[in-house]
Amino acid sequence: MTRSIYLILLAVVSVWLVACTGSVPRPTSLHRDWARSRYGVEKDVDRGYTLYVANCSGCHSLYHPSEYSDSAWAVVFPEMREKAKLSNGDADLVLAYISSASAVVKAH
Ligand code: HEC
Repeated sequence: MTRSIYLILLAVVSVWLVACTGSVPRPTSLHRDWARSRYGVEKDVDRGYTLYVANCSGCHSLYHPSEYSDSAWAVVFPEMREKAKLSNGDADLVLAYISSASAVVKAH
C-alpha cells in the first residue's frame, strides 16, 4: 500500500519535471560547436542549460530560446537576469546557451 503511494508520487513528480523542462532542448555537440565558433572560446553551454532550467523557471514556464530573436533576447535578458539574480559569469553562460539553442533550431 505505502509502496503504491510512493510509485504514484514518483509518477506525478516525473510528469511534472518533464512538463517543466521538456520544451527546452538539452545542448548537443551542435550547440557546443556553435558556441565555440561564435565566441572563439569554449563556452560551457551545458552549464548554461542547467542554470537556465534552475533559475528561469521559478516565476513562469521556460521560454524556448527560439521563441525570441537575438535582438528581442538582448532586451529581455538583462531584465530577467536581474530578476533571477544571476552573477555575471552565470548570466554569460545562460545567454550563450540561449543563443546557441536558438541558432541551432533556426539552422535546422
Ligand atoms: C522573479 C521572477 C522571474 C524570474 C526569476 C525570471 N522571470 Fe522572466 N518574467 C517575469 C515576469 C513577471 C515576466 C512578464 C513581465 C515582464 O516582461 O517583465 C517575465 C517575462 C519573461 C519573458 C517574456 C518577455 C516578453 O516581453 O515577452 C522572457 C523571455 C523571460 N521572462 C525570460 C526569463 C529568463 C531567461 C529568466 C532567467 C534568467 C527569467 N525570465 C527569470 C518574471 C521572472
